[in-house]
Amino acid sequence: MAKINLKQIKDDYQKAASHIQKRIIVCAGTGCIANGSMKVYDAFKKAIEEAGLELFVDLKLNYHDDDKVLQLTGSGCQGFCAQGPLVNILPDETMYTKVKPEDVQEILEKTIQGDEIIERLLYTNPADGKKSKGQLDIPFYKRQTRLVLGECSHLDPGNIREYISHDGYMAAEKAFTQMTPEEVCNNILASGLRGRGGGGFPTGRKWLLTLQEKS
Ligand code: FES
Repeated sequence: MAKINLKQIKDDYQKAASHIQKRIIVCAGTGCIANGSMKVYDAFKKAIEEAGLELFVDLKLNYHDDDKVLQLTGSGCQGFCAQGPLVNILPDETMYTKVKPEDVQEILEKTIQGDEIIERLLYTNPADGKKSKGQLDIPFYKRQTRLVLGECSHLDPGNIREYISHDGYMAAEKAFTQMTPEEVCNNILASGLRGRGGGGFPTGRKWLLTLQEKS
């Protein structure tokens, strides 16, 4: 079986992705889909095609040096479902809430092709009436420290290369190729990971006990 080279996939993807000028991320979590986010996604796709703008193709490795393209992707749930459909625009991290297909043409012209913020689509804090430009300005997000799900607002769940470009599977590759079973179990024990069934039993301890069992 041919060996998969994660580092090569990562490097190739990052090289192609360096041509992305702006990225439009439409939340494709269950809550946003229920609120119509796929219609928003389709409206972006149509508007971008009609405007003659080039969309990023992640397998295209022969972009010219000065090529600049747009990327349109979904994301996993961004944790703010009541405000969906959410649309994030990178690199500025502008976040629009409750976006409708009718808003898409204006977003494309003003925020994507220009750098104008559309105030009415920003989140308004009900406590003080202040508008927030992006997730990091919103009190709900400010109080969170995301570790395992830190990239869930940005990663396209349908694109495995993008995941690998963020070091996806690197720990698994290391565990399978460079570590002994005891080292893997001790690493998990040291991480403090516990089961979520109610007992909170240390996962590494469970794995070590299982490893010691004779089959
Ligand atoms: S599904 Fe979009 S924020 Fe939860």
